[in-house]
Amino acid sequence: MVDTDVHDLDKCFEVVVKHVKAAGDVIRRRSELRQEYELKADDIDLVTQTDKQVEQMLMIGLAHAFPDHKFIAEEESSAGGSPKKLTNDPTWIIDPVDGTMNFVHSFPHSCISIGLVINKVTEIGVVYNPILEQFFTARRGQGALYNGRRIKVSGQRDLTKSLVTSEFGTTRDVEKMLVVNQNFAKLAAKVHGLRCLGSAALNMCMVALGAADANYEFGIHAWDVCAGDIIVREAGGVVIDPAGRKFDMMSRRVLAAATPELATEITKLITQYYPEPRDD
Ligand code: IPD
Ligand code: CA
Repeated sequence: MVDTDVHDLDKCFEVVVKHVKAAGDVIRRRSELRQEYELKADDIDLVTQTDKQVEQMLMIGLAHAFPDHKFIAEEESSAGGSPKKLTNDPTWIIDPVDGTMNFVHSFPHSCISIGLVINKVTEIGVVYNPILEQFFTARRGQGALYNGRRIKVSGQRDLTKSLVTSEFGTTRDVEKMLVVNQNFAKLAAKVHGLRCLGSAALNMCMVALGAADANYEFGIHAWDVCAGDIIVREAGGVVIDPAGRKFDMMSRRVLAAATPELATEITKLITQYYPEPRDD
């Protein structure tokens, strides 16, 4: 086990915030233009030069400050075929642009999402949408902040009064789409409303902010939810596996909710899907 006390988490936080703000400037400057892109796993899984450049900026900056830290980053993982294994070592889990499809279309809901995990416990989460200047942070045991102000979840327990976020995801896999559509139909018949922001990390931050009451998705990756997980929990919410078990960041499944009661209602209602391969 790595001794967390030997890590200067204040310094980690200060350094990551500095690099995320600088990388956010790059995203903001390019956000008004439609972006050129390449395809990754399929024709709706996109990557731009900005995704790659921002990931490099973050990794170089953090590696300079913390030479012994490891990284699990989206574009490096995609290029290598699979994510690196999560160990007990301090590891930065990075999505340089979450909501790449939005970024390509100048739909202003894209963010940097980054978490620091030590001994497989998330210590720090930062989600930054530089286009709308939305800056979410959390540190373990210290609460969650939105643009410097303490935030908390809505406290909603009743599914019929809930605003729920989810996504179609970045695959057109027929079996998965069937489950996604079934779940949208089941929820739409019960809830106040369904929303898709186009960014898993920002969806989770809406739960932390109390603006949405729950978010679930099958097919996300560790970098989409690492920061969102701690931000929701530090805002007083719950993050679990959509079948009701403990959240497993490598399982590609997530359910965040304002209350355990609401989370349970959703686990009982939705059809389950287990994406393969997992992230580990
Ligand atoms: C995706 C977005 C999307 C979600 C996918 C994610 P990316 O991340 O968060 O909203 O549905 O599951 O992979 O590809 O834009 O980084
Ligand atoms: Ca991404």
